[in-house]
Amino acid sequence: MCGIIGYTGPDPALDVLVDGLATLEYRGYDSAGVAVVAPGGNGLSVVKCAGKLSNLRAALDGQALPGTTGLGHTRWATHGHPTDNNAHPHVDASGDLAVIHNGIFENYADLKAELAADGHTFTSDTDTEVVAHLIGALREQTGDLADAVRAALHRVTGAFALAVIDRRDPTAIVAARRAAPMILGRRDDASLLASDVAGLIAHTRDVEALLDGQVAVLEPGRVTVTDLDGNPAEGHRYHVDWDVSAAEKAGYDHFMLKEIHEQPRAVAETLLRRTDADGRIVVDELRGGPAVEDDLRHVDKVYVVASGTSYHAGMVAKYAIEHWARIPVEVEIASEFRYRDPLLTPHTLVVAISQSGETSDTIAAAVHARDQRAKVLAISNVVGSTLAREADAVLYTRAGPEIAVASTKAFTTQIVALDILALYLAQLRRALFPDECRDHLARMDALPMLMQQVLEQEPAIAALARQFAGAGYVMFFGRHVGLLIALEGALKLKEISYIHAEGFPAGEMKHGPIALIEDGGPVVALATRGHVRDKVVSNIQQVKGRGAVVLAVATDGDTEIKQHADHVVYVPEVHELLYPILTVVPLQLLSYHIAVVLGRDVDQPRNLAKTVTVE
Ligand code: M6R
Repeated sequence: MCGIIGYTGPDPALDVLVDGLATLEYRGYDSAGVAVVAPGGNGLSVVKCAGKLSNLRAALDGQALPGTTGLGHTRWATHGHPTDNNAHPHVDASGDLAVIHNGIFENYADLKAELAADGHTFTSDTDTEVVAHLIGALREQTGDLADAVRAALHRVTGAFALAVIDRRDPTAIVAARRAAPMILGRRDDASLLASDVAGLIAHTRDVEALLDGQVAVLEPGRVTVTDLDGNPAEGHRYHVDWDVSAAEKAGYDHFMLKEIHEQPRAVAETLLRRTDADGRIVVDELRGGPAVEDDLRHVDKVYVVASGTSYHAGMVAKYAIEHWARIPVEVEIASEFRYRDPLLTPHTLVVAISQSGETSDTIAAAVHARDQRAKVLAISNVVGSTLAREADAVLYTRAGPEIAVASTKAFTTQIVALDILALYLAQLRRALFPDECRDHLARMDALPMLMQQVLEQEPAIAALARQFAGAGYVMFFGRHVGLLIALEGALKLKEISYIHAEGFPAGEMKHGPIALIEDGGPVVALATRGHVRDKVVSNIQQVKGRGAVVLAVATDGDTEIKQHADHVVYVPEVHELLYPILTVVPLQLLSYHIAVVLGRDVDQPRNLAKTVTVE
């Protein structure tokens, strides 16, 4: 989603801004722009245009916009098309202020009408320009930019992270947030801001996440934070410990491919230090908070809430927690959960899963649950993220930065984290014997090595991708935990190849979707060994009988499946609940190679954003 970068310090701002925007490209965007203020009140330069950062570089055409304070923005359109005019920064009526913004000002239409009645005219369709005019008008009244921003924010509704610069005060940036991330970077000679830490780590690792309703004034080497009424406040300060190389491609053609191949290491990290000397499962993160262990012992219902790929990972909790810990589990799309009236009590555990920890739908679901006195456990990959801060406890997946829009290593590490949670709950509540818990966890230790074996089949999967790339529609089906991989396999394929793909419970095919099968139409079936394997084979026969070409994902040694499927990809044998961690890997590779054959923008597919911070 929109990327924000800001700098005030001793160096020319433009290079810092453009380089910072490049590190945020992975978030997904459709236009980009920069604004720089020159010293001595001499000028505000704004350059912006639709399209990728390369278009902005071309528009800048080697100009060195003068000034050491500035803002940069990559926009993911919400109000109005991705055009030059709608790109950020937006200026106010005086032309003195430039504003960038991530999020949605929900009451912008009312504010626009009010400002228009006062003579304001607008050049874009955006909510941001309206708020730029509002801040500008209030700036004339208050005489101070920070006061004007605070006054404006009392009048707006919605979620936002915004930053403003002012020609009349060319060394300051005013920033604010409500329900959208805004991270400040502190250095002795400079201050920076960004929508996520990836934009800052080239400059500093000492960062401060602004909290909801806080306003910051950044000057070179100085940051002052207040609440919306101007009272002194402090954000959440922390040190970033991953290095820049973790966010680079390391010789792979795309971040997605690199991240697929990083999965064995990422899963090993998630599994690290999960037992004590007696072989009991320990989840240090859950020991920390007040009475967390005791709360978990008395949980009588679990809700899992998440979005997209994280939702598919969350589905494993229903199988694992119900099977091992014997607690009823419901898994729900976060944006649906928050708008119904779920029955939540202090004995309800809500597990909110989000790679970024900044997905607005998932955060809102978690906050709703917490307000109803349920216990909220976040599973996130980003230390210090908003979701992590809003939750009672956090289980970090430790996958390292995930840059590609299409989520891969976050997914497998989320499943591993959920399996650990399920076993931990089983141990706490004595639903399993201690040696059973220990054995299950010990089996999981083999997963990184087994994932590596699956990755070694990449050349064969790439060859299959060439055969599937011409398909207009691909169906995926599975049963039990195979279902969640059918859903995830279809999501991966559609998001990066733009081929229409859907996942179904295999048993549902005959109730409708089988009507879509055409001669030669590709179907991917999850058919690993387990109690539903033979049922899936029957479903394969049903679609084969109607002309489908079937690719089965099966267990090593299952040669019989070759009588039913046209192509087979094998994965090693594991406990039935652990198959998703292996079976998703060939489907990630299949989608990746199909997208490459089709020449798609693999890491930044059209219309998508890495972090979805709007509703
Ligand atoms: O950061 P989150 O895990 O909360 O993100 C949730 C979804 O937006 C995300 O998984 C999305 O579906 C990915 N593009 C999937 O590849």
